[in-house]
Amino acid sequence: MDKPKHILLIIGGGIAAYKASELIRLIKKSGMTVRCVLTESGAQFVTPMTLAALSENEVHTTLWSLKDETEMGHIQLSREADLIVICPATANLLAKMAGGIADDLATTLLLATDTSVLAVPAMNVRMWQHAATQRNIEQLQKDGINVMPPDEGDMACGEYGPGRMPEPEALMAEIASLMGSPFLTVPGADTDETELGANPLAGQPAFAPDQHRPLHGKHVLVTAGPTREPIDPVRYIANRSSGLQGFAIAQAAAEAGAQVTLVAGPVHLPTPAGVMRVDVETALEMESAVHDALPADVAIMVAAVADWRANTKAEQKIKKKGDAPAPLELIENPDILAGLATHDKRPGLLIGFAAETEKIAEHARAKLAKKRCDWIVANDVSGDVMGGTDNSVHIVTDTGSEIWERMPKSDVAQKLVQKISEEI
Ligand SMILES: Cc1cc2nc3c(=O)[nH]c(=O)nc-3n(C[C@H](O)[C@H](O)[C@H](O)COP(=O)(O)O)c2cc1C
Repeated sequence: MDKPKHILLIIGGGIAAYKASELIRLIKKSGMTVRCVLTESGAQFVTPMTLAALSENEVHTTLWSLKDETEMGHIQLSREADLIVICPATANLLAKMAGGIADDLATTLLLATDTSVLAVPAMNVRMWQHAATQRNIEQLQKDGINVMPPDEGDMACGEYGPGRMPEPEALMAEIASLMGSPFLTVPGADTDETELGANPLAGQPAFAPDQHRPLHGKHVLVTAGPTREPIDPVRYIANRSSGLQGFAIAQAAAEAGAQVTLVAGPVHLPTPAGVMRVDVETALEMESAVHDALPADVAIMVAAVADWRANTKAEQKIKKKGDAPAPLELIENPDILAGLATHDKRPGLLIGFAAETEKIAEHARAKLAKKRCDWIVANDVSGDVMGGTDNSVHIVTDTGSEIWERMPKSDVAQKLVQKISEEI
């Protein structure tokens, strides 16, 4: 499985340093990891504690740390990153970089790296327009540094003009584009997050230290949402699955410290913080993404995978002929859950979801035997479960079964993750 992309974020001593906190949240939400380096002046604007809590990583502030140099030296800091982002890049940092000066941790690691660098300048309009700053920018671009031009507008110092730091969402989009990752979702780009309610802490990571979390060091694979099986360029076979339950489980597993891969069918939901998301459309794509994500300690197959797909996909839109509709020939999709059960990298704990409308427990037990998985979580979808926010489930295992009465899907997720933690 691909490791999550990793960002090293250098925060310089500018008034816009506060925006780095929001940027960290967006980076984590997109499924990447982030580690911060804070300059001495940067620490006048934001605290290492804030950055550590948000990034869930130690914050590095000095070159002269005996502990850091033995555990995570300044060279290593830059080498482990896929991209170094300087935000805000002060006039001072830009000048030092252009001149090859290395007199603190930030500038030393910038001189010692061959990793791509994105500088996000933010400063007073006159500082930005100063001939020295413009000369330095030109030099840095010649040296291969990516420079994101500042916005124009009202500045914190009361002046107007270019020099303002772009908003975190725009920074995140620039980072995603430099990483060239097709799977990287820029949170908020195609989702109306206001739908999720006004909770200001929504999407924030939990703050318990990693090693104290029950799933620390475990890889949990989750599938969620429906699949969409094309008939022609405009029509498809799908189902009513919203993805809410699978996303809630992915979030609960990440909060429990797991490394989580979420293979998601077409849904409009934001990626939970700290989760690596792979977007797919069809059952065949989902099967291949699931296999690519192995090995996993736990796999929870929540997605409502279409049982059938059209045997052929018409290249052009199928036209009405005025009489009977053209017959649609369907063929069976692969059984992703059963396929995992016999895979040579079978996850240690394999959990299937079953959507039932009658004889819930009886059908779930039959599915457990047929699919050769360890647990079946059966939900009664005869009511408003699909697309709703609540769920009531039967958990069927080799040794017995439990009924969890109706509760929010987020509570089902927490309870299930708790049960998994106890099991493994
Ligand atoms: C209140 C205040 C706000 C500042 N804002 C900025 C800024 O937005 N951009 C900038 O380039 N420098 C700014 N400076 C100046 C830098 O903090 C100063 O040049 C410092 O040496 C930068 O250190 P660093 O580049 O190591 O972080 C500001 C200074 C103060 C006191």
